[in-house]
Amino acid sequence: MGLADIQAALDEFHASLDEPYRMTPAGMWACSQSEEVYDLLRRMDLGRYRSFADVGSGDGRAVLIASLFMPATGIEADPALVEAGRSIARRLGLNQANFLCDDCRRVDLAAYDLLFIYPDKPLDWLVARLPEDWAGNLLVYGAYFQPPELAHIDTIQAGHSKCTLWER
Ligand SMILES: C[S@@+](CC[C@H](N)C(=O)[O-])C[C@H]1O[C@@H](n2cnc3c(N)ncnc32)[C@H](O)[C@@H]1O
Repeated sequence: MGLADIQAALDEFHASLDEPYRMTPAGMWACSQSEEVYDLLRRMDLGRYRSFADVGSGDGRAVLIASLFMPATGIEADPALVEAGRSIARRLGLNQANFLCDDCRRVDLAAYDLLFIYPDKPLDWLVARLPEDWAGNLLVYGAYFQPPELAHIDTIQAGHSKCTLWER
């Protein structure tokens, strides 16, 4: 089981869609690039972390990929996208992948120590939900939105995407 199996399952899901993006109950869905997410995670020291969560997980791709390495949770407001991720995880036996259909603003994000986000809006709301003593890291995919107040740890270029790592 690996990236190619996940990509094939995602391709199958996307073949049933008109477009690989849409408005959801909470924001705008667009997809990160699976190869870039895989490359990004492989280059990180994941042994430092216990639990990964994708804040707004879309079709679940980052969670499915992260679950190859560690327990991974996706939180997503769009039920059909959550079902897509769950169904691929079930089919591929990715037992470390888990999905919550919820608004991320109602979930205890501080319970995870590696938060991933491909943001569709400014990140103030997310930073406001991280306690002052949160010891985790926030991994931001893409350069458009950066978290206010957090300290920059690293910048990792994954394919065409500039990704950044942050801490409190
Ligand atoms: C740009 S997409 C990224 C999808 C996925 N993380 C990826 O890497 O392909 C942003 C996703 O966040 C979701 N989202 C935005 N705000 C949310 C919120 N407050 N609660 C749950 N989902 C949210 C949107 O529905 C959308 O699917």
